[in-house]
Amino acid sequence: MLSNNKDIEESNFIDSLIGKMTIREKLGQMYQICIEANNENVAFNLEDDRSLVKKGFAGSVINLVDRNLIQEYQKIAVEESRLGIPLIFARDIIHGFNLIFPIPLAQAASWNLELAEKAAAITAKEATICGIRWTFSPMIDVSRNPKWGRVAEGYGEDAFLVSSFAQAVIRGYQGENLSDPSSLAACSKHFVGYSATEDGRDYNVTPIPPRELNDVYLPPFLSSVKAGVATIMAGFNDLDGIPMSGNKELLKKLLRDEWNFDGVVVSDFNSITEMIFQGFCQDGKEAALKSIESEIDIEMVSLNYMNFIEKLIEEGYIDTELVNKCVRRILNLKHKLGLFKNPYSNNNFTEINSDFDNNVALELAEQSLILLKNNASFLPLKDDVQKITVIGPLADSKIDQMGCWSMDGDIDRVVTFYESIKSYCLEQNIELYYDSILPDCRVSFETIDDVTVEHIRRSDVVIVVVGEDSLMNGEKHCRAYLSLPLGQSKMLEKIAEINKNVVTVVYAGRPLIIKDILSNSTSVLYAWHPGSMGGKAVTNILFGKSSPSGRLPISFPRAEGQIPIYYSHKNYGRPPLERPISVNDGDFHNSIGWTSEYLDINHKPLFPFGYGMSYTKFEYSEIKLNKIILDIDDSLEVYINVKNVGSVDSYEVIQVYITDVVGSVTRPQKELKAFEKVFIKQEEIVQLKFSIPVKSFKFTDINGDFVVEPGQFKVWVGSNSEECLNMEFYVK
Ligand code: BGC
Repeated sequence: MLSNNKDIEESNFIDSLIGKMTIREKLGQMYQICIEANNENVAFNLEDDRSLVKKGFAGSVINLVDRNLIQEYQKIAVEESRLGIPLIFARDIIHGFNLIFPIPLAQAASWNLELAEKAAAITAKEATICGIRWTFSPMIDVSRNPKWGRVAEGYGEDAFLVSSFAQAVIRGYQGENLSDPSSLAACSKHFVGYSATEDGRDYNVTPIPPRELNDVYLPPFLSSVKAGVATIMAGFNDLDGIPMSGNKELLKKLLRDEWNFDGVVVSDFNSITEMIFQGFCQDGKEAALKSIESEIDIEMVSLNYMNFIEKLIEEGYIDTELVNKCVRRILNLKHKLGLFKNPYSNNNFTEINSDFDNNVALELAEQSLILLKNNASFLPLKDDVQKITVIGPLADSKIDQMGCWSMDGDIDRVVTFYESIKSYCLEQNIELYYDSILPDCRVSFETIDDVTVEHIRRSDVVIVVVGEDSLMNGEKHCRAYLSLPLGQSKMLEKIAEINKNVVTVVYAGRPLIIKDILSNSTSVLYAWHPGSMGGKAVTNILFGKSSPSGRLPISFPRAEGQIPIYYSHKNYGRPPLERPISVNDGDFHNSIGWTSEYLDINHKPLFPFGYGMSYTKFEYSEIKLNKIILDIDDSLEVYINVKNVGSVDSYEVIQVYITDVVGSVTRPQKELKAFEKVFIKQEEIVQLKFSIPVKSFKFTDINGDFVVEPGQFKVWVGSNSEECLNMEFYVK
């Protein structure tokens, strides 16, 4: 509905433009052309891309990042094409443009929405200067399988945490108003269920039960629609037999008709054509039909719309009005971005590369680091440390510190861990020795030379930086084995034989299987791929400039065989026994009962969702509720006291879960419903209040309705999904 004069004016403008367009020009708007940085039109279209733009046969461009070329192409569109419709330039800007922030999974580990929002706003400012106005981010696929390489690109295993980050990041990219020249249109992807890829192998099938789809995979998308996301991308995945690029039920009936999403929906890269290979469409014509009927507005790169829609209209399969509808949404996006008035790049150069930006990157990296082991409070390193040895293929690798999808990252802005600790040691007069031993993560270990052995022996602490390189994560980079790649584990073992004071820093884009790291290290800091300022962040944490405050956004398995493992699992008819983890993983223990267990490993994760240590301790007490019996329209108010009982000031992440004890269908053991990250000084007690609408307990019941069922509930408050205080309450 049009609410004011501005809306009416805008709509008239767009309608009159559509009135002037030929069908080819309309299809042009629906075609996204890929022009790589080398200015070559990638595959699929043999015609010169400049002449396509001039004819009005391309509406948006993916992958062009050179500012001058962007200006040049825009000039052709605006000044030389018949109707002068501006292009939108799009790019996968996933966790920073030139300044790289921690990978999204690491950002989720910070549990700090404010910082993630600021990072997205800085990203938007940098990208728009280049002329890019559309990013294919955030990826809000709930990810429960660390074998899948794209787990790095999302915000972890929990629908509520993912939804919260989705909203924050969208706010950051899009700002108050899309027409601000420094705002980027966001794109929530991949609608929907792409992360449930069988076996964790990319582009595999995703058979998701309908209730799980509703309660786990769809909520982040609904949250992003509520946050006003400008665009949504349909996934590559075959969802229970229906590829998402032609899934009318979800794209048209749910997203458009029920959720009223009137932004742009874009296909994934070549995904419309891939429906032919998936055996869902006979040919490009059928693929185009299924996609447009699903109201996908833009086809990314492949040419089925361009080649077949006109024919589909002529043959009466579709009405021109359906095309107009898609074009209207695309022009509307261009209008909202202010491109008709100001098609060229943001000129606000003065605002980039500031101390403010670097500090946000530093703080976000610092808050995303997770301390997983710290024997005898070995960390933070004490003032009496006089000699340090730094080892490892990732200690001084700028590219690998940035992580996957950082192709526009400015390498000169990256401060590696080694560079950072070197200047710290110089300042503090600490002797430092460095040897990567392994040149990269993909080689076998042979030996440590005598000089290095001697340095390791004489050091007060040996810091070993190991893990995955950037290209071990991201799209298509899936792994069946999740241990430390190749020679790194042996190298670590050897180092630990020489000196017991090993601090291991893990750079990785996913939870790895880290038992051997734990057994060969005194302390372990999980650093993910922490981005441009990550090296400094690690140094700050190791030397106690701040206390670690990252918490796991995804459970850590003990072995690949436990995957998928996630905290919000259903209850069991024969629950695993709560017994001490006494048997070594891989050894057989006697099966005690007829319970849901493995013979050769404990059923519990190595570290649960929400877990992370700090340099202090927190005590939770006095959980209270506003009411014990609530109505559907009430909010559950939860009060808790948290005391910092150690001697270091620190952030703590207070997490609130609920359990719906009995349902018309079985319910998860726990579900995260609220959290807050709070800075608590030593000895300080803070009282926190969480207000959680009862309506947020809705789920898909036995009839397929989304409801809250009356009955008994539990609320849990604590520092991770396993260590919580709890109370009961009832919903009438
Ligand atoms: C990925 C998308 C990405 C697109 C454009 C695809 O292969 O699945 O996430 O946005 O390429 O680069």
